[in-house]
Amino acid sequence: MTEGSSIKLSPLPDIKPQSVIASLDRDRFQTHEGTFNVRDVAPVVGMSESFVRKVIGHRGLLSARDVLSLLDQDSFAPTLAPRSMVLDYLINLANNQTAVVRSLPSSESLTLLQGESPGVLEQFEESSVRCVVTSTPYWGMRIYKDSHIVEWADGERNAFGHEQTPESFVRHTAEVLLALKRLLAEDGSIWWNVMDSFNTRTQIRGNASEALRAMQGKDGRKWSEHECRRYSAGHAYLKDGEQCLIPSLIAECASRLGFYVKSVITWAKTSSLPEPQESRVSRNIEYVLHLTKTRTPYFNKSIYRSLPAQLGGRNNGNETDKLSDCWSLPTSSGRDGHGAQFPVALPARCIALSTEPGDLVLDPFVGSGNTGVAAGALDRRFVGIDVSEEYLSIARERLARLSTEQSRFNFQNAEESPTTVALPF
Ligand SMILES: C[S@@+](CC[C@H](N)C(=O)[O-])C[C@H]1O[C@@H](n2cnc3c(N)ncnc32)[C@H](O)[C@@H]1O
Repeated sequence: MTEGSSIKLSPLPDIKPQSVIASLDRDRFQTHEGTFNVRDVAPVVGMSESFVRKVIGHRGLLSARDVLSLLDQDSFAPTLAPRSMVLDYLINLANNQTAVVRSLPSSESLTLLQGESPGVLEQFEESSVRCVVTSTPYWGMRIYKDSHIVEWADGERNAFGHEQTPESFVRHTAEVLLALKRLLAEDGSIWWNVMDSFNTRTQIRGNASEALRAMQGKDGRKWSEHECRRYSAGHAYLKDGEQCLIPSLIAECASRLGFYVKSVITWAKTSSLPEPQESRVSRNIEYVLHLTKTRTPYFNKSIYRSLPAQLGGRNNGNETDKLSDCWSLPTSSGRDGHGAQFPVALPARCIALSTEPGDLVLDPFVGSGNTGVAAGALDRRFVGIDVSEEYLSIARERLARLSTEQSRFNFQNAEESPTTVALPF
């Protein structure tokens, strides 16, 4: 089922990574009389609650002056708002704390919702989701259909992945992660697939085959004729052609929000696009960050050995029986018209490792529905969210085809010899 509506943004503006010149204006806050809960302050200043208490003293409520002194600490790093805006963020939060939490509109086992993350995540009950598996738009890489403007907590308005700087993208990722933390079960897991971007001058394209045609010299358009471009000059420190290190920045931010970064998994792709650059090695990997709320989340490591390869079991010829932090999985066939999918094996492995049959799995950027296909085949309940009705209709069709018995993995018969399942593609 679907619900909600989306504000379309077309065409997308160019990306010009001009770092903003801004600094903290202390005078604005010296006379502010409101107080802030230490629970709200800790993730925004990127410190644990216990560290904040160590700095400020053992109080549950902090003044603006306390927060200013946290911003002076060597261990401060921005997460949800840049330093100059941390107090604005906290004041806004204190003024708008009446968000109504509604329960999900459907009890169907495989549900698709049209809506915007993080906004739509308010609909989930606290601790109701055992596992989140997702792949967000990567920074400055793709134009998705039905692009949608999000009004972010740091005051920026842009489609996710279309920020002017990688730092903004990381902040917005942190905002989604914080919203997910509330609805994740105490022993649950988040699996966050992300790829790095290079700070280069490039045209932003709709899908991988368009990019491939351009690399093969088959795109005759001039720079000025492209619908959407990314520039590289003007960033505070990134040089032209440099890798941005976005996955590492997200991992640090997640830790500062209070998550345990359990693993930074390398997804070594068994095939990847050719790249024309001669000054560096070609890219062949993406990352999957495994984030949890506790040190010992639910984790069924041995299931890996009894899963079929299509559902995340050992990828024969590329992987051994030891489940390590290097996953050698194929890329998606990309046959169904989305253009930026991961293969079903990737979410299936994550789901099998971190949930039990019947648990609720969530993908807040569901695209063509691969996480839903994996969840359904493994007998988990599923909710998938996307802003694009066009992508949701692909996902809906694939989930409908899943309802045949042979698409489901039979745990009883799995034992030592993994069975195969007929997946709907
Ligand atoms: C990398 S794709 C996900 C692909 C998916 N893993 C699959 O296998 O098909 C990212 C998706 O996020 C969606 N999206 C972009 N901004 C969004 C937002 N703010 N909320 C929800 N979905 C969004 C896009 O429409 C796109 O389908």
